Amino acid sequence: MRHFLTLKDLSPVELHQLIIRASELKEMHKAGEIYQPLKNKVLAMIFEKSSTRTRVSFESAMVQFGGGSIFLSPDDTQLGRGEPIEDSARVISSMVDAVMIRTFEHSKVETFAKYSSVPVINALTDDYHPCQLLADMQTYQEHRGDIRGKTVAWIGDGNNMCHSYINAAQQFGFTLNIATPVGYEPKASIVKAVDAPIHLFNDAMQAAELADLVVTDVWASMGQEEEQRKREAAFAAFQVDKKVMQQAAKDALFMHCLPAHRGEEVTAEVIDGQQSVVWDEAENRLHAQKALLEFLCA
Ligand code: CP
Ligand code: NVA
Repeated sequence: MRHFLTLKDLSPVELHQLIIRASELKEMHKAGEIYQPLKNKVLAMIFEKSSTRTRVSFESAMVQFGGGSIFLSPDDTQLGRGEPIEDSARVISSMVDAVMIRTFEHSKVETFAKYSSVPVINALTDDYHPCQLLADMQTYQEHRGDIRGKTVAWIGDGNNMCHSYINAAQQFGFTLNIATPVGYEPKASIVKAVDAPIHLFNDAMQAAELADLVVTDVWASMGQEEEQRKREAAFAAFQVDKKVMQQAAKDALFMHCLPAHRGEEVTAEVIDGQQSVVWDEAENRLHAQKALLEFLCA
């Protein structure tokens, strides 16, 4: 049995095969082919934070694969009333075929996985968002081919998405330039734990130089709503605008996991412009996670 808590849970070869498979599943789906490898299987989906893309993509994936899913929120389960995570993991996993969790502390998904009898998928924690990276890597591959040897610029917060890009730099073999304000760098322990060319900057233009892919994310993540104003001031020089994109390679792509705040981390001109592939990126959450579910459960 395998879990998917970070990108490091799969080998580089497995990850590469998975994103190629995601594009195949996408073609099959678009051709109207019925493919139900998870008939009668159930995915439990625990959401302790909000979601649009993750919920819709996992639920649709399970229906299209012939199975079903159960949406569980802390508001109406015992999870929100203090039942130990170990007990919840034993019970829930005894009744379903896989569990997807979106929560705060990364240690929660690790504990759940330890006590689960079925595969556990990290659907975002404060530290990582590996499912998003599957979609991002699939999207790059579809538009530009192999990302190996390319340069990615991460502009903004050293957050969960940034940490998953750090892991992806090792697993998919690219150079990662990270530009953050002072004090908002990614966790040093996560940077140190990868074998990949990671370069830290406090200047967006330096990080973006000749990048093949420019990526950003919100300045205040879920759980940091109270810091919004302070962060707006700290991140003012880290907006991805036309100038930043002009600093990148001529055919550079722009990605954002969404939801986006136009006028904050990215201008409308960039996210709604020619180089942006954010809609493909969002759609690919469905196809990439189908490939993941097939890998873990079929
Ligand atoms: N990108 C992403 O995970 O979006 P949601 O928060 O809408 O699931
Ligand atoms: N960094 C963001 C990503 C949302 C998909 C957050 O954690 O809120």
